[in-house]
Amino acid sequence: MAVTAVVNQKGGVGKTTVVLGLAAAAAARGRRALVVDLDPQANATTGLGVWEAQRTTASVLEAESPGALAAAVVPSAWPVDVLGRAPSVVPSSPVLAQREHQMATDVIGAQDRLAVAMEGLAGFDDVFVDCPPSLGLLTVNALFASDRVLIVAEPAAWSSDGVAQILRNVGRIADRRSGRPQVAGILVNRLGRTRDAAYWYEQLRQAHGDLVLSPAVRLRAAVAEAAAQSLPVHALTRDGAAEAAAEFDAISEVLDPAPVAAPPVAAPAEVVDLTGRLGAGGGLGDAVGGTGDRLDASALAAPAMVTTRWDH
Ligand SMILES: Nc1ncnc2c1ncn2[C@@H]1O[C@H](COP(=O)(O)OP(=O)(O)OP(=O)(O)O)[C@@H](O)[C@H]1O
Ligand SMILES: [Mg+2]
Repeated sequence: MAVTAVVNQKGGVGKTTVVLGLAAAAAARGRRALVVDLDPQANATTGLGVWEAQRTTASVLEAESPGALAAAVVPSAWPVDVLGRAPSVVPSSPVLAQREHQMATDVIGAQDRLAVAMEGLAGFDDVFVDCPPSLGLLTVNALFASDRVLIVAEPAAWSSDGVAQILRNVGRIADRRSGRPQVAGILVNRLGRTRDAAYWYEQLRQAHGDLVLSPAVRLRAAVAEAAAQSLPVHALTRDGAAEAAAEFDAISEVLDPAPVAAPPVAAPAEVVDLTGRLGAGGGLGDAVGGTGDRLDASALAAPAMVTTRWDH
């Protein structure tokens, strides 16, 4: 299971859209996807067709009980016939904004409440955590609970500076967590066909090199329409929907090449020490490089478990 925090402190760049697109792509590839909505705006929750929930990320974070997240998982309302399987979701609610303020006064449990709540979570191949537009405590909790971070960026003025700031924060957390989260990459979203967009896209590539994932997700009306209809873009038939779905499918394959994650390995004797391996070749070097990562032998056979952004 890979837990991916989808972040950018800037609003409206497409974090939620990317979470929904990647959850749809993962499900279409036979992977069991879970969306954890960590934004009080709850856009991912409604995008998945969930409007009322008994348990939410707000109640989970309040409980501060190990493993509490699992009980808050509900199925999304996305049609199963399109994707083959529908993602699940831990919904959010506006109350989460108050929870962030309360957490700020907790000197012990402020940063890792989500990590504690996610302890023992099983049954999913991909967990995507949708973060609010800030680098506040909710995003910090997502980073403390994640294996990797996906930064969503717009090809717009000063976008690159914002990404650099996120990378610094991720590096500081990774220093405290034995190299986790790793940087899965920078996904450029809302790439239009203007010269301006091409210029800022190029600036991002020059500044961050191989960390910029390919393909980018283009600006298309179908993407916005899917969210507005609480449907996966894969379910739409209008112009541009199939192309947008293909972009998310391609990114999903870059992040997790195997259609379905490998089953767990039984024998502890097969554990292989991959010290240093995951950190090699990344554009961030020491800041977020993996040290001391241990993966099981099945992971070696299954690219989904070991092929991270560092391998490309
Ligand atoms: N590739 C795209 N093509 C067209 N519209 C898009 C695309 N990506 C996002 N949008 C639209 O842009 C708006 C902002 O996207 P989204 O809500 O995903 O951003 P966000 O980063 O999650 O915002 P926030 O920071 O408020 O959580 C939405 O109306 C969404 O439908
Ligand atoms: Mg959002």
